[in-house]
Amino acid sequence: MSSAWTIGVIGGSGLYRMDGLQDAEWLPVSSTFGKPSDEILFGRIGDVNLRFLPRHGRGHRIPPGEIDARANIDALKRSGCTDILAISAIGSLREHLAPGHFVAVDQFIDRTVARPASFFGNGLAAHVSLADPVCPRLSALAADAVEAAGGQVARGGTYLAMEGPQFSTRAESRLYRQWGADVIGMTAMPEARLAREAGLPYALVGMVTDYDCWRAENEAVDIGEVVAQMRTNGDLARRTVVCFVAALPARREASPIDTALDGALLTAPDARD
Ligand code: ADE
Repeated sequence: MSSAWTIGVIGGSGLYRMDGLQDAEWLPVSSTFGKPSDEILFGRIGDVNLRFLPRHGRGHRIPPGEIDARANIDALKRSGCTDILAISAIGSLREHLAPGHFVAVDQFIDRTVARPASFFGNGLAAHVSLADPVCPRLSALAADAVEAAGGQVARGGTYLAMEGPQFSTRAESRLYRQWGADVIGMTAMPEARLAREAGLPYALVGMVTDYDCWRAENEAVDIGEVVAQMRTNGDLARRTVVCFVAALPARREASPIDTALDGALLTAPDARD
């Protein structure tokens, strides 16, 4: 019998494929919001359905600012996903979060400026809460899975989403530390906002590739080192997904974020198109 879980996995830099899926097939999924980053790999592990979408596309064709997060989240929702496990490469803003460590992110500071960030608008006004932007149940399961896969994980951390594509200046990097950010990346926003608007529980596992440029002893972010670390992280990320699926409870109880959209839509029913 099929499980009620359908896990959407969004793969970040260094994670463009998933191995070991049963009945695996890449299928095009269209969205009215735009073009998803790639086809979606449909498959299952045991009785858990998986839908894998490489955020930058296979071959890493799409830079952060050109990712259509609305199309990606919409396509995953249309593919039947009940929950989203997002995986992203990140820079570390903290000494104890060394390259190779993973972080189950639980907060965001969004400094992206040039990306459509809502499904609403065009005659529909809605305001969802983002006070707690990740699903605590999913995030805890994801952190457990990193450990089960043999990795080190920080449970909780604030992710500074920057526009990019250039890395930060040293002054920015130090400022973000003062703001309380722990890690930095270019892709998890507005993705996390949109998952919430779509009513999809979302967890983000960040994979540290570098220390950004705040440390005195660091010259700058070295993309060669980032890519090498990405490869190692990618293997651990794939094992993490397998452990994550293996540990899911057989029955999917209601999600803690199921009520996120209650009362969010302000537009009167007779004023909706
Ligand atoms: N992704 C990986 N490392 C990063 C960094 N230092 N800044 C922004 N995004 C990143």
